[in-house]
Amino acid sequence: MNTVVIGSNGQLGTDMVTACKAAGHTVTGLDLPVIDLTNRALTEKSIAAVAPELIINCAAYTAVDACETNRDLAFALNCDAVGLIAAIAKSIGSRVAHISTDYVFDGCKTEPYVETDKPAPRSVYGQSKLAGERLLAETIDNWYTFRIAWLYGVHGANFVKTIRRVAREKCTAGAVLTVVNDQIGSPTYTRQVCSQIMQVVTTPNFGLFHCTGEGSCSWFDFARSIVDAANIPVNLQPCTTAEFPRPAPRPANSVLENARLKALGLNRMASWEEGFAQFCRDESNAE
Ligand SMILES: NC(=O)c1ccc[n+]([C@@H]2O[C@H](COP(=O)([O-])OP(=O)(O)OC[C@H]3O[C@@H](n4cnc5c(N)ncnc54)[C@H](OP(=O)(O)O)[C@@H]3O)[C@@H](O)[C@H]2O)c1
Repeated sequence: MNTVVIGSNGQLGTDMVTACKAAGHTVTGLDLPVIDLTNRALTEKSIAAVAPELIINCAAYTAVDACETNRDLAFALNCDAVGLIAAIAKSIGSRVAHISTDYVFDGCKTEPYVETDKPAPRSVYGQSKLAGERLLAETIDNWYTFRIAWLYGVHGANFVKTIRRVAREKCTAGAVLTVVNDQIGSPTYTRQVCSQIMQVVTTPNFGLFHCTGEGSCSWFDFARSIVDAANIPVNLQPCTTAEFPRPAPRPANSVLENARLKALGLNRMASWEEGFAQFCRDESNAE
């Protein structure tokens, strides 16, 4: 398949390009400044030049807290740009695989969320991502949206790298590291998401998929695994969301059930613990 990955220098996009190559696709990675999704003419030109059969959109405005004060940019990248990609795909007969988020839910459900649950985003980021999902579905038929969560990978900034850095600093200073223990989700490794997406996009099973590491934990639990794996003897303590206020509200429960993948017999997402172990192995192999 002739495939374009947009956002190819990002955390997920970098691994997606590698996964596409491994799956035998002819792949073109596009990112700033070659493509700018806020520039219609440049976006049309860059995609048309490749005439892809598949467009995988990994680009987004992902700074959750900054979205609260940059609402226009959040909607421009997370919604309007998705509509533009969809319109271009429709005109050239391409299919689109798009990435969305667990933050489309408000977190009030006590069970894991399935694809048929009603979204109710609490943050501007979540609202803009949900608007993008809907615009994609309204614009073309051949779309896949993968809702992922608590993403980390070898490339880019993420929770794993932040916790390691801060834990080392706190350790040196003899200080306590507190991490939120009342938000529950599913840590998800980029390479497992890429592998899962590559499997689905070769099927005609279009539509919405939840696609996260199996099982769940709190940010505190995840931080415990991270500092233990890195052998950082920091004094790690749980705290509440109220004790660690952020500009954007987060869902208390954002655990997603990969219900549709399972119903189709396509689920290959491992437990979040196995995903993290694979990440640690991949990191040390890369050294
Ligand atoms: N990170 C998470 O925890 C998480 C959780 C759930 C869902 N997701 C979703 O997963 C997807 C991938 O996230 P990620 O963490 O890989 O994001 P990322 O690392 O921030 O990558 C996004 C990429 O998009 C590029 N980009 C920004 N503005 C652009 C523009 N105007 N035109 C073209 N490209 C532009 C960025 O370039 P610059 O770096 O130069 O700006 C970057 O390379 C996103 O859809 C995100 O919403 C992420």
